[in-house]
Amino acid sequence: MYRRIRPLLFCIDPERAHNLTISLMAAAGSLSPIRKFLRKFYFQKTYNPVDFAGLSFPNPVGLAAGYDKNGVSWRELSLLGFGHIEIGTVTPRPQAGNPKPRVFRFPDEEAIINRMGFPGKGAEFAVKMIPKPGCSQARDNIILGMNIGKNEETLIEDAAQDYIDCLKLFYDRVDYIAVNVSSPNTIGLRKLQGKDLLEGLLQELMSERDRLQLELDRPLPIFVKLSPDLSDHELDDALEAITGTSVDGVIAANTTIYRENLLDSDPGEEGGLSGKPIKELSTSLIRKIHRRTAGNLPIIGVGGISSPDDAREKMEAGAGLVQIYSGLIFQGPRLVRDLLENL
Ligand SMILES: Cc1cc2nc3c(=O)[nH]c(=O)nc-3n(C[C@H](O)[C@H](O)[C@H](O)COP(=O)(O)O)c2cc1C
Repeated sequence: MYRRIRPLLFCIDPERAHNLTISLMAAAGSLSPIRKFLRKFYFQKTYNPVDFAGLSFPNPVGLAAGYDKNGVSWRELSLLGFGHIEIGTVTPRPQAGNPKPRVFRFPDEEAIINRMGFPGKGAEFAVKMIPKPGCSQARDNIILGMNIGKNEETLIEDAAQDYIDCLKLFYDRVDYIAVNVSSPNTIGLRKLQGKDLLEGLLQELMSERDRLQLELDRPLPIFVKLSPDLSDHELDDALEAITGTSVDGVIAANTTIYRENLLDSDPGEEGGLSGKPIKELSTSLIRKIHRRTAGNLPIIGVGGISSPDDAREKMEAGAGLVQIYSGLIFQGPRLVRDLLENL
């Protein structure tokens, strides 16, 4: 079915096509026959549950951050079979993001460049999209993560407060928090991966997490999402800060600013590259993290997965779970099913 819809979607500007898909999914998902169809066709009855960072994930395949930025269609997306969905990146206050156009497809290479810059309706909006614990509309068997970032106008030295505000707001709504310090599209954000800044940020976040854990009597793992562009030295520094503050895991990796593996190495668009060309870059980061932490730091592997073999490579490199984004755009929901059937 997606093979028929794709040419139509690919005639439209990528961001408009994406917003249209999200709206259609939300509308279609409210109709019970369509929910039943999606569930029957995509949902896997047999699970391979994965214990990861103290959580039990129904299966190893998740949707990466950026697809459902405001948390408006995670229910429908979960019907495609994902074991977890990472909403966001959400910032404390709403913001417009960078000027459009800001998403570019490269179908021959199954690649995307985006420079969105965290457009979104803000944390107060997103929190309303997720049911409170114990509420009647409780969610099915799906793990929800919230990927959090800072607002564009927040100075780097004040960034911790933005992350803390989000942590507090989402603490009792989601199953994990992903700290995004690696998007290339918010000026200066990636500086937060530097040892001192990262250590400072994580110390503040982890002590707030520990306080909330006691108050609410509920653990909430925190993961840090890293850039695949870190040099070996920068990676060592970041890992020192991450392990030194007892962060629960990492997500490797975000998009790259490099264009090495793109056939047209200068497509003339700034932003983060994702999809097939970043597959090796991301796997190599996972392998390095796994070796440097002696396998003791849980890793979610993401970047260029478009087949079960790609996912297997990430897991063999040390990832306990995988996520997809660009593969879903180019191959459609069938990819989730393929991954689940073959992992
Ligand atoms: C259009 C687009 C928007 C994205 N937005 C975010 C985001 O808001 N936060 C984030 O952490 N990652 C974001 N990402 C990165 C993805 O989560 C993922 O790390 C990256 O695309 C690599 O995976 P892939 O090759 O499967 O796409 C975005 C990616 C794309 C293509």
